[in-house]
Amino acid sequence: MQRAHLYQENVLPQLRPDQVPALAAVAFQAAGIRLDASKLDFLQARLFQRVLDSKAFTFRAYIDLVEGDEEERQTFVESLTVHTTSFFREAAQYDWLLSTGLPEMTQSGSNIVFWSAACSTGQEGWTSLMVAEAYRRETGRNFNCRLIGTDISKSVLKKAERAIYQQQDVDNIAANIRATYFLRARNQDGRYRIVTALRRSAEWRWGNLATGKGMAGIQANVAFLRNVLIYFDSATRDRVVDRVVRGIRPGGYLLTGHSETGFKHAELVAVAPSIYQKEGRA
Ligand SMILES: C[S@@+](CC[C@H](N)C(=O)[O-])C[C@H]1O[C@@H](n2cnc3c(N)ncnc32)[C@H](O)[C@@H]1O
Repeated sequence: MQRAHLYQENVLPQLRPDQVPALAAVAFQAAGIRLDASKLDFLQARLFQRVLDSKAFTFRAYIDLVEGDEEERQTFVESLTVHTTSFFREAAQYDWLLSTGLPEMTQSGSNIVFWSAACSTGQEGWTSLMVAEAYRRETGRNFNCRLIGTDISKSVLKKAERAIYQQQDVDNIAANIRATYFLRARNQDGRYRIVTALRRSAEWRWGNLATGKGMAGIQANVAFLRNVLIYFDSATRDRVVDRVVRGIRPGGYLLTGHSETGFKHAELVAVAPSIYQKEGRA
């Protein structure tokens, strides 16, 4: 009733400029996400529906809610995060994996762990498994591959695990790759699912890069940390890089987004654009 009343009176919740810092503080504390006064319209657009659905009805009451309620904070973070991703995004890095990374890492027959550290709906991680599988078929080398995908958003993790994609998601994938690594829905409704063999090699977990929660025990050969560092301030970004580097085996690799430069880490050596090797022997 109250909600209908608000609509009737045309009093949709309006975020005031002086309320932005309180929401920014929660976003920073919960996810390391940096928001400033220029994000007023973004916050208004992303949150007004949630303000109504949560029955807070005003931004003032919603701020109290997110400050006090862990579950609502998770929903709030979900509303703010951007989940854009695609198969074979930044294709040059997968070319490098095929031509340089995998030949070197599989020389001694060791098993490969990929970590997609802000995995969104899974395309980045699935692509790494496809490339490794293609390499194994091409060379006959004997190695196993495992994928760990982590993200702060539970809704994207569910989609990654389900591994079902729409026609437009797979349109740009070469026909032979699509035919090998996707199953087409029997009714040909334009949905595709990642094949069972790859799905068996993947594990999807909630993990917060800003706090390190949910990421314990990961030791990867290759960590993808792409298109997420841009949301952090420089101090958080350095902490996140350090945390992810600790989850990479000696001699393993860190792959970042092509515009995510400007960080330094004592254990990393740049080996190709946006590709870094961790010191030490594999
Ligand atoms: C733009 S997507 C990038 C997806 C993929 N890495 C790529 O490059 O295609 C950014 C992802 O980072 C996640 N994210 C944002 N803040 C995070 C945090 N503090 N910890 C873990 N994931 C986070 C978002 O939920 C979102 O799925």
